[in-house]
Order: sequence, then C-alpha cells, then structure tokens
Amino acid sequence: MDKVKGATEADLARISEIVAEYSHQKWPLIPLVQKIQTEFGYIPPQSIPIIAEALGLFTSQVQGVISFYEQLYTEPRGKRIVRVCRGTACHVRGGKTILKLVKQRLGIEEGQTTPDWEYTLETVACIGVCALAPNAVVGNQVYSHMNPKKVEQLFKKDEE
Ligand code: FES
Repeated sequence: MDKVKGATEADLARISEIVAEYSHQKWPLIPLVQKIQTEFGYIPPQSIPIIAEALGLFTSQVQGVISFYEQLYTEPRGKRIVRVCRGTACHVRGGKTILKLVKQRLGIEEGQTTPDWEYTLETVACIGVCALAPNAVVGNQVYSHMNPKKVEQLFKKDEE
C-alpha cells in the first residue's frame, strides 16, 4: 500500500467488506474501526464516509468518535512506535535529554513518522516503572535506565 497516497481501490474494497461484516452488530462502530486499524495500521480517511453511510451516521459523528480515542489513528504510522516517558520521575532523571537524542537520531519530532515508515515517535505520561527511570518503550519492549549510549544502541541494531 502506498501510505502517502492513502487507501487504494483494493483497500477500499476490503474496508467495505469489513463494514458489511460489522454493520449488523448492536454497537458496531468501535469494533469496526478497531478492525480496520488492526488490518491497515490506521483508519484511512476515505473509509469514514463508507462507515457513516453503512451505520446511518454523519461523517462528522464517525470522525468525532475516532478523534475521541487516542488509540485510533487516521494517519499511517511507523512499524515500531517509540515512546519516551515524560513523567516526573523520568523527567528529573534526564528524560528530556533522552527525548532530544531520540529526536536527533530519528530526525523527527514528537508525533511524526520517519520517511521509511520504520518509527513513529511519541511521548507518554508514565509507563509505571518510575524506579527504573528514565524509560523508553520501543514496540512492546521497555528500555530502562536510558542514557545517550543506550539511545544509540537502540537504533544501531537496525543498521547491522
Ligand atoms: S515517570 Fe517515567 S515511568 Fe513513571
């Protein structure tokens, strides 16, 4: 799929199939958009009118629900999500520097995705392991006691 141009004809055909599958359920909207996101990695904006029509809603209502949930995305994201903790414990132990180094290393700002679609960078309020601060998460893996060398190692693996 060409992520820059959005959903292809084939994608939209598949989205219509998913919509048909879910539209007869009692509360279909959330499971339906989750299913689309699981399959495509995001919810292509072109799918919103298809969903709205099938469920008898306005597009603004569908868009409103998607925007309400932080876990739902209408833009493609990287293969791996990098989350740097900006909670208090991590902040006082150098989290700000870790974030700065990750930004430099990936060449992107918070909320952005690398041009090769490998990484999307986000920050989180706290991941619950404050004693091991500063922390970062790549995919499902937590990296603790982060320092500049560890930031370098984190992304070096991909270049080998
Ligand atoms: S503040 Fe970073 S893990 Fe809690």
